[in-house]
Amino acid sequence: MIHPPAERTNRISSALTLEIVARTAALRADGKPVLSLSVGEPDFETPRPIREAGKYAIDHGITRYTEGRGTLALRKAISAKIARDQKLDYSPEQILVSNGGKHVITNFMLAAINPGDEVILPAPYFLAYPEVIKLAGGVPVILETDPKSRYLISPGQLERAITPKTKMIVLVTPNNPSSTAYTQEEIAALAPVILKSKAWILSDEVYEHLLYDGRRQASPAHRPELYERTLYVSSCSKSYAMTGWRLGWGCGPKEIVAAAAKLQSQMTSSPSAIAQHAAIEAVSNDQRDREEMRCVFEKRRDLIFSLVQRWPHVEAPKPEGAFYIFPRIDGAWRAAGKPYPGSLAVSMRLLEEEFIATMAGVVFGDDRAIRLSFAASEETITQACSRIERFLSKI
Ligand SMILES: Cc1ncc(COP(=O)(O)O)c(C=O)c1O
Repeated sequence: MIHPPAERTNRISSALTLEIVARTAALRADGKPVLSLSVGEPDFETPRPIREAGKYAIDHGITRYTEGRGTLALRKAISAKIARDQKLDYSPEQILVSNGGKHVITNFMLAAINPGDEVILPAPYFLAYPEVIKLAGGVPVILETDPKSRYLISPGQLERAITPKTKMIVLVTPNNPSSTAYTQEEIAALAPVILKSKAWILSDEVYEHLLYDGRRQASPAHRPELYERTLYVSSCSKSYAMTGWRLGWGCGPKEIVAAAAKLQSQMTSSPSAIAQHAAIEAVSNDQRDREEMRCVFEKRRDLIFSLVQRWPHVEAPKPEGAFYIFPRIDGAWRAAGKPYPGSLAVSMRLLEEEFIATMAGVVFGDDRAIRLSFAASEETITQACSRIERFLSKI
């Protein structure tokens, strides 16, 4: 008899989505015409110049360990990119490069959170958050939101949640799964409440370049009074269709960035040298590919929003960024006088009866909704939405 896995692994749940993913694969293997609105990554190839830079690295010996926090060349390129795109000032010493945004988030949480610290997390949330908070020994304090307030938190709600134990407030903008984004004014309204605490703000901006209707990214780091406490996180994944390259960065005050870099250097030595070299090309080039992909997503956003709006008793704020829509569907059951079976049951039935793969809202902390991704062709979006409409009409 040998020892079981460590207790910390029991604190973390494995993704409920696995059931849906496994069933989708089984139906496809059976030849069923499953249409997927469940993916969380761009359906584009990584742009050619970035791919070429990766190949160059492989062929020219850029294949060894690098500085633990990322090469100086890449951190300089990221510093210039952030100054160009967000008008924010971060020196290379204030930047940590990791294996994707998720890895940056984990590093920052491990660097900032002590056992028992509270972390405020608005729901619906990106599903990794509660688990990473718990891994760091923190206690997630979940704030519920609603489609009526575009799934954003209010200053009063935040004020009620803050306690002397609050170590961090997570803001994800644009958000996954709701795809709504804070405006500068909305962040300004939260600022006085945040300033009454000593909390860090973890500002997840991995979708910062996927914004629609002419919106500009609003970050807490843009506000001078919040800049020092903001841990700004972004990534190559969504902006440059580079999910598999695993390359992200985090910025903040030097001390916390150095603490996170120390953890990272012992755990992974450094991010991939090849991905780092390709990332220099991604963040430094003319950004035309990035803008082209954004325009395609905006067209698909218009399409899916117009289709979802036709569904009776369903509420969904218009996606302002990212590539998801998060319709609240429980009202459709209420209107039919039937008990709502929960989002996992709805997702499974959509899969079994209509061959549509979606993500149950419960995995994002909101069981009243399902997440549809529009990282799919217009044809797939149109067909899938018409099958969901048919399903809802039969409740
Ligand atoms: C809100 C949010 N943050 C972070 C990530 C992680 O992105 P990556 O680790 O690929 O940079 C994702 C990916 O889906 C996300 O949706």
